[in-house]
Amino acid sequence: MEKTKPLVLIVDDSRKNIDLLALRLRKEYQLGLAQNGQEALDYAEKQLPDLILLDVMMPEMDGYEVCTRLKAIPQTKDIPIIFLTAMSEKEDITRGFELGAVDYITKPFQTEEVKARVRTHLSLKEMREKLNAQNIILEQKVKEKTSQLQEMLQATLQTMAKTVETRDPYTAGHQQRVARFACAIAGKMGLSQDQIDAIRFAGILHDIGKIRTPVSILNRPGKLLEVEIEIIRIHPQVGYDILKDIPTPWPFAEFVLQHHERLDGSGYPNGLSDRDILPESKILTVADVTEALSSFRPYRPAPKIEAAIEEISINRGKYYAPDAVDACIELIKNENFKFK
Ligand SMILES: [Fe+2]
Ligand SMILES: [Fe+2]
Repeated sequence: MEKTKPLVLIVDDSRKNIDLLALRLRKEYQLGLAQNGQEALDYAEKQLPDLILLDVMMPEMDGYEVCTRLKAIPQTKDIPIIFLTAMSEKEDITRGFELGAVDYITKPFQTEEVKARVRTHLSLKEMREKLNAQNIILEQKVKEKTSQLQEMLQATLQTMAKTVETRDPYTAGHQQRVARFACAIAGKMGLSQDQIDAIRFAGILHDIGKIRTPVSILNRPGKLLEVEIEIIRIHPQVGYDILKDIPTPWPFAEFVLQHHERLDGSGYPNGLSDRDILPESKILTVADVTEALSSFRPYRPAPKIEAAIEEISINRGKYYAPDAVDACIELIKNENFKFK
């Protein structure tokens, strides 16, 4: 298939000059013609020529003005412009380049020079467009690969989470629900997508350390003994030890380590206080407590979401980050968030 000829717009107030150039270029190019600035702008916006040969000295709107306007329009700003002029003083040339022209040809024209410059700038434009198109394809591919990897990572983490949860049927799905709710809280608080992704991954596995808690403790109805509570309380540290070597852009092992810390320092395992707890962990904590208190457990009466809201409201600012608590309540009360 024959390639269509590039479209070159010639702008000059002198018909004689236009004819002269047209005669030299019409064999190789399709030509558009304009005899004043306004005509040139209208033509360029409609036809989007591949290159513009633009006279500088024209009545009403000169070539500099036409160039300035074309550069301000997104669709025409990348069209290469070659100025044509009888002026050859240095400042005129400099001004043309400053306005974004790619080249400058002084009258009277040498046919071969005009042809050579037009050809050069058209091939540069073509190369630029090819490069841009390749960049777009590459960016798209990187995006696809990244999202594939994220999906794979998420599926792997979910499988790990399920493995832990098979040991504790009462909390099956707890980590998944906490992850989903924590993401909703983070979104409400205006955290970046990157932070939300990190919170999702940490949420899915935040109780993975319970893999080391004996099943007899996990499944036992009734109040736990002090020693049993102590055993359960090592799970954030165990989770951290399991996750810390996974190479990720986010410190999600730390998020997991801190998910039972409280603002007033009464949490575990390290008794950290407000400013030492990561914001992502504070969100996980609120999501975790709210989900846990509103789900069935063998050792307490039927749960109610109101009990969860009461707990986080009473301890807002004491144990739990106020902004996370507010976002949590807003989601449940006003936006009808459901865990299932
Ligand atoms: Fe936990
Ligand atoms: Fe949990």
